[in-house]
Amino acid sequence: MSTERTFSIVKPDATRRNLTGKVIDRLESAGLRVIAQKRIWMSTKQAEAFYAVHKARPFFHDLVKFMTSGPVVVQVLEGANAVAKNREIMGATDPAKAAPGTIRKDFAESIEANSVHGSDSAENAAAEIKFFFADTEIVG
Ligand code: CMP
Repeated sequence: MSTERTFSIVKPDATRRNLTGKVIDRLESAGLRVIAQKRIWMSTKQAEAFYAVHKARPFFHDLVKFMTSGPVVVQVLEGANAVAKNREIMGATDPAKAAPGTIRKDFAESIEANSVHGSDSAENAAAEIKFFFADTEIVG
């Protein structure tokens, strides 16, 4: 087991319903530490750049619209196997397919408004952390 960092977003559907604390509780209860965090309202440019990998997907435009529809909370999480651990806590992208007890099963509204984002690899985590945080903002 190696200590790792991953990147997480509490999405607009969750901040709108005042669920930020409940999401953080799930993360902390599972042993992840929030070592950086800020509440921001993403610009269209930021959201398009962050999700550039999905640019050709039919849902890209709606995804950018949704992610800029309200505030989000961006986070750096640290812990043993943080990338895989966070994905386990989040559950499947589509809440209809998410396992019981996961954040998305319990809180998500739809495949788009699915409450949280988590990096899918350590490499992407490093890039996503860098996208939103300066080194001086990460105080593990
Ligand atoms: P996220 O982990 O943030 O990465 C890309 C997002 O696109 C994903 O979560 C979903 O919220 C969103 N999305 C919207 N529609 C789809 C879809 N049909 N398939 C996969 N992801 C989708």
